[in-house]
Amino acid sequence: MSDRSRTPAPVEASAVRKTTKVAVVGAGAVGSTMAYATLMRGSARTVALFDINKAKVEAEALDLAHGIQFMPMAEVIGSDDVAVCADADVIMVTAGAKQKPGQSRIDLAEATIGLVSKILPELQAVAPDAMYVMVTNPVDIVTYAALKISGLPPTQLFGSGTVLDSSRLRYLIAQHCGVAVQNVHAYMAGEHGDSEIPLWSSATIGGVPLLDWEGIDGRGPLTVQARDEIAHEVINSAYRIIEGKGATNYAVALAGSRIIEAVLNDEHRVLPVSTLLDDYYGISDICLSVPSIVGRHGCTDRLAVPLSPLEIRGLQHSAASLKDVARKFGF
Ligand code: 2OP
Repeated sequence: MSDRSRTPAPVEASAVRKTTKVAVVGAGAVGSTMAYATLMRGSARTVALFDINKAKVEAEALDLAHGIQFMPMAEVIGSDDVAVCADADVIMVTAGAKQKPGQSRIDLAEATIGLVSKILPELQAVAPDAMYVMVTNPVDIVTYAALKISGLPPTQLFGSGTVLDSSRLRYLIAQHCGVAVQNVHAYMAGEHGDSEIPLWSSATIGGVPLLDWEGIDGRGPLTVQARDEIAHEVINSAYRIIEGKGATNYAVALAGSRIIEAVLNDEHRVLPVSTLLDDYYGISDICLSVPSIVGRHGCTDRLAVPLSPLEIRGLQHSAASLKDVARKFGF
């Protein structure tokens, strides 16, 4: 017999899992797809979409909400009021100028820095403790400027960097070598843009250094020429996609939701996010990507990855070209 009058035992506070909230700033192709990817992967319990275009942001949120039945448990809210981002655990900033065919990411710097200067203080007022992840391009310059504007520590504010480029690199290596992409470990480092470099000397497939890879299934090793072609394709991927469909959105959205999960689940995951360097192979006072540790306390460490002399020079060159741009904009 059931005893309906019995009071349920109190639940220990520590047993209640705090719900998680991600705010995505910008409801364009990248922001909306990032909200979709975050919901589909079950990365967070609440996804808030914020954009100054009221009709657009409300329509995107409504469209996403109508699919909630088919997703892991979540809710989605959208508004042109920054208050929708209140108390978010993670804020993904995707708003900014759109890269047109033929434009480089650096060409967007002026417009994007202006927007970030306006929006960051508003976000900080409603979500002071959030982890801030810059996605807007040119992401390394935006991240550096955002650190100066916000006064936030580099652990709490960093950029999506070359997480996407590294997944492009791994995909191409996997295709070439005929192995699963999940078994390839390789990073693009430096600028998320034209001066980025592949870190071939530390790349591995299933623990085998890539430079020692002899090939399987009649496929040979990854020759210097093949490596050059892969690097070229990674660096030019976005141009190719923008030429064909006007924007990139799917892979960047998945990369973003992977960063969100690393933070919310305190994964201490190695991700090449864009972060302020302090004497990394002699590079200081600029943001760029190197393999780093990401968890609940943000981007806490950079890995001392062994680099070849060529890679060191490539990274230093990338840093120098980013510094030129940052100084040009007064940062
Ligand atoms: C990308 O690499 C355009 O930064 C964007 O897809």
